[in-house]
Amino acid sequence: MKIVTIVGARPQFVKAAAVSRVIREKHEEILVHTGQHYDNNMSDVFFKELHIPKPDVNLGVGSGTHARQTAEMMIGIEDVLLKEQPDYLMVYGDTNSTLAGAIAASKLHIPIIHVEAGLRSYNMRMPEEQNRILTDRISTLLLCPTNVAVDNLKKEAIVDGVYNVGDVMCDAVLYYSKMLDEKPADYYFSHLQGIYEDVEPVESWYLATVHRAENTDSINKVSEVLSAFEQLDAPVIFPVHPRTKGLVSQLREQHQYSNIIFVEPMGYLDMLYFVKHAKKAVTDSGGLQKETYILDTPCVTVRDQTEWVETLIGNHNILAKPNAEDIVNKVMNTVIDYDKKEAYYGTGHAAKKICELLETESK
Ligand code: UD1
Repeated sequence: MKIVTIVGARPQFVKAAAVSRVIREKHEEILVHTGQHYDNNMSDVFFKELHIPKPDVNLGVGSGTHARQTAEMMIGIEDVLLKEQPDYLMVYGDTNSTLAGAIAASKLHIPIIHVEAGLRSYNMRMPEEQNRILTDRISTLLLCPTNVAVDNLKKEAIVDGVYNVGDVMCDAVLYYSKMLDEKPADYYFSHLQGIYEDVEPVESWYLATVHRAENTDSINKVSEVLSAFEQLDAPVIFPVHPRTKGLVSQLREQHQYSNIIFVEPMGYLDMLYFVKHAKKAVTDSGGLQKETYILDTPCVTVRDQTEWVETLIGNHNILAKPNAEDIVNKVMNTVIDYDKKEAYYGTGHAAKKICELLETESK
C-alpha cells in the first residue's frame, strides 16, 4: 500500500518516529513535512536523533494565522495527493497540520487514518479541540490511544473503523527511555543551551513547559506561572517554546528570576532524561502528561481540563489554575495516592497494531 503521512509539529515527529519504522517494513510511505515547526531545535534535531526518514516533501509553510497556515498546508498537501494517488492519508493528533491533511484528503475521497483519534477536552475554544473533532468526523480509520477515547467517539455516534491500538507516544517513551541512564547527568546538562545565561548542573530540579495559547495569550498569565516557579523548593528547568519566548523576555526586563533556568527547546532524549529525573513536572503539554505518567514523575498540569484523564487517577497528574498560588500549592502539597499503576497507554506495541490493522482493513 502507498501511504502519505503528514507531520508538521514537534509531537508529530515523535509519533512518526515510532510508526514510520514499522510501516516501512511492509508499505510505501511518502512523508510530508508541512513546515509548521521549522527551527532547528523544534524540528531538525528530532529527525536526526530519532532517525526519522527524511521528508519526501517539505511544504515550508511556517507561521501564520490559523486560516492562512491551514490553507497553505491544504494547497501543498492536495498537490502531493494528486501526484501520488495514495491508498491512505495518515495524520497524527490535533494540530493545524492534522486538519489540513484531513480536509485535503477527504475532498479527494482518499481514506484517512487518524492516529490519536477520540481525544476530547470539551473546550471548543482550543484550536486543538476543533482540529480533533473535525478530523475524527471525516476519518475512515480512527486509531484511539485509550478506551476513554473509544468511548468519547461512541458518544458522538462514531463507531465504524474505531480501534484502540494503544498510544504511539508510549511506544516511543518505552523504546528510547531504555538508553537514558547509560550516560551521566553532566552529559545531559552539557547539551542545555541557556537562553540568557550559561547553565550549571544542579542536583535536583523541576521540569516545566508552557506553550498552550490559553496560557500564553497574556503577559499576566505567563507572569503568574514564572512567579510560581520562583517560589518552588528546587530550580526549575524551563525549555521555552518559541510561542512563549517573547513574553518571557519582556518579563525578564521587569523582574529578576533566580530560581528558573531558561533554556532553548531540547531534543527528545534530553527531554526524557530531564523529565524522568525531575522532582515533578509542571506543564500544559499533552505529550508530557503521558510521558511523566509512564516515567513515574508526578505532574502538575496548568489547564482547566485534560484529554488524558487516566493520568489524574491517584493524583499522578493534577490540574492547576494559571495563578501562582494554585500552581505552588499543587506542586508542593500533592501526594500520589495509588497502589498499582495501570498500562492505560498500552505496552509499546501500538505501531505494530496499526500496521496489522492496515493489513486486515485492506483485504
Ligand atoms: C502547535 C499545535 C499544538 C502542539 C504544539 C507542539 C496547533 C494549533 N497547535 O502549537 O497542538 O501541542 O504545536 O509544540 O497546531 N514558532 C517558531 N519556531 C518554530 C515553530 C513555531 O518560532 O519552529 C513560533 C511561530 O512563529 C508561532 C508560534 O511559535 O508564532 C506558535 O507556533 P504554531 O505553529 O502556531 O503552534 P504551536 O503553538 O507550536
